[in-house]
Amino acid sequence: MSDSLDFDVPFLLGMMRLHEAHTLNTPARLADWIEARLDEGLHWFDHADIYGKGAGETRFGEALRARPALAARVRVVTKADIVLPQLDDSGHGVKHYDTSPAYLKAAIDAALSRLNVARLDHFLLHRPDPLIEVEATAAALDDAIDSGKVGAVGVSNFLPEQWRRLQDAMRHPLVAHQLELSLAHAEPLFDGRYDAVLHDGQRPLAWSPLGGGTVFEDVLGDSLTRLAEEYQVSRAGLALAWLRRIPGGPVPVIGTLRESRIRELAADGSHAIDRATWFALLEESRGQRVA
Ligand SMILES: NC(=O)c1ccc[n+]([C@@H]2O[C@H](COP(=O)([O-])OP(=O)(O)OC[C@H]3O[C@@H](n4cnc5c(N)ncnc54)[C@H](OP(=O)(O)O)[C@@H]3O)[C@@H](O)[C@H]2O)c1
Repeated sequence: MSDSLDFDVPFLLGMMRLHEAHTLNTPARLADWIEARLDEGLHWFDHADIYGKGAGETRFGEALRARPALAARVRVVTKADIVLPQLDDSGHGVKHYDTSPAYLKAAIDAALSRLNVARLDHFLLHRPDPLIEVEATAAALDDAIDSGKVGAVGVSNFLPEQWRRLQDAMRHPLVAHQLELSLAHAEPLFDGRYDAVLHDGQRPLAWSPLGGGTVFEDVLGDSLTRLAEEYQVSRAGLALAWLRRIPGGPVPVIGTLRESRIRELAADGSHAIDRATWFALLEESRGQRVA
């Protein structure tokens, strides 16, 4: 495989639930699972240091250590800057964000060590930090790329004003933007955020593309069931196809670790969805008529 940083896959595999997956609780089992995904052409894995308080990245790294040939085939995204209350040693025990250079440098080194990879292919700031010192953070992110520890830098959950101030202070581009986007959360398509991501040349990555499973509930769930039957595809595949129909090609970051569901999404997620069906599903998800 090339050294590419492109998201040349139908979706990324989200690792938020890896630490609690009982069927993947040994390095050998997880290595088998990773190898099967790689053989299916799914080589991008989405991590964050807070998933399982580091346990997700640690499990993944142990699997790569158990089967070293996998390390050259996987591509990883990881995120940092959220400090969980349990990991706050200030005495306040408060959840907070930290984009200081010292914190980010330590977070990058720790992620490299837990994941057991030579490079974090994409490193994202997880949440916008109101106390960000833009010039210092920008320099720390540029340095991380120059050192070879990070392939590219991006952001998650930022507003345009927030990422543009950071971008203006950086030498390297913010390449990827991970935002919540799905039938269950379509607001970024209407408030300008999604357009700003595309305008600024960032690659959109859509987290919780099935709304964490909520797209299968209520009126929207009924509509997905009916239309999925009509089109002879799965409900989940149809919900993913709705997302992938959006111009600019948001790349979903899916959450299930079940092999059968991953294969179903790979098979049905590219179903060609027409304009009227797209709006019909949008109406059901919002519970109101298109204006
Ligand atoms: N950047 C951020 O701030 C941020 C925030 C949240 C998440 N993320 C990333 O996004 C990833 C995905 O988030 P998510 O788990 O909420 O995504 P999701 O793909 O929208 O939802 C996955 C959930 O839907 C359930 N589900 C029910 N039926 C399903 C079906 N037929 N096919 C697939 N899933 C089905 C899954 O259950 P089973 O697991 O039982 O299959 C799982 O609980 C995370 O792993 C993480 O990497 C990023």
